[in-house]
Amino acid sequence: MAKVTAKHEILVVPNPDELNHRAAQEFVRLAEEAVRTKGFFSVALSGGSTPKGLYERLASDQYREQVPWPKVYVFWGDERCVPPDHPDSNYRMARESFLDKIPIPEENIYRMMAELEDHGRAAAGYEQTIKAFFHLETGKRPRFDLILLGMGEDGHTASLFPETPALEDAVHLVSANYIEKLGACRLTLTVPVINQASNVLFLIFGESKALVLKEVLEGEYQPQRLPSQLIRPISGRLLFIIDRVAASKLTCI
Ligand code: 6PG
Repeated sequence: MAKVTAKHEILVVPNPDELNHRAAQEFVRLAEEAVRTKGFFSVALSGGSTPKGLYERLASDQYREQVPWPKVYVFWGDERCVPPDHPDSNYRMARESFLDKIPIPEENIYRMMAELEDHGRAAAGYEQTIKAFFHLETGKRPRFDLILLGMGEDGHTASLFPETPALEDAVHLVSANYIEKLGACRLTLTVPVINQASNVLFLIFGESKALVLKEVLEGEYQPQRLPSQLIRPISGRLLFIIDRVAASKLTCI
């Protein structure tokens, strides 16, 4: 079941397995289109547990050969401030789920070095990496072909958590964001960078997300409390692929 509004598209699928399948199809379609039209595909991966199924699907026989991996350039939308081999590392999860199983050149993988002591320097370093890759002039923002996002039960996305400084960072491309309730720092792409993307794809499933998803999509605009509401691509496409359980409280579909 699909719903299109001026702001976003919502695709409701029966279960997480179908969500991974549809997300993989979308990834392949966007990668093929970008490589065909401009020679490369830039994607920022999301972390957490939701996208793991998609990543494993992309490494499967069914999809691996469909993606022009040598022309795919992988970034991260956010990262925990831990070493790359830490169980909480989004990089490690992506490596184990698919990057170590597909023919993507090492030089195409741009890891956030979030383990550095100086988180501000780590954020600035990743910002330089992005600027160099996109050949950005001063003050310009990158246009990723695809940014994958998840949503937390508190309405956060990437590492844009409620009532945190990064929500209002319109200066940097990458922000070091201290999350009081986690007692930890995270690196995250900032809102203007995400909203500059050609395609933003939220992947959300499970009962635990149903209430917050309703608030984000149908509730009052309260971005400090529900940061996912800040995601409004300027000229890109915003697609939510959600399973029936997560969609169970929505009335807009
Ligand atoms: C992270 C993610 C984060 C995630 C949500 C949902 O680093 O954790 O980028 O934004 O998408 O927290 O997490 P789950 O998919 O585990 O529910």
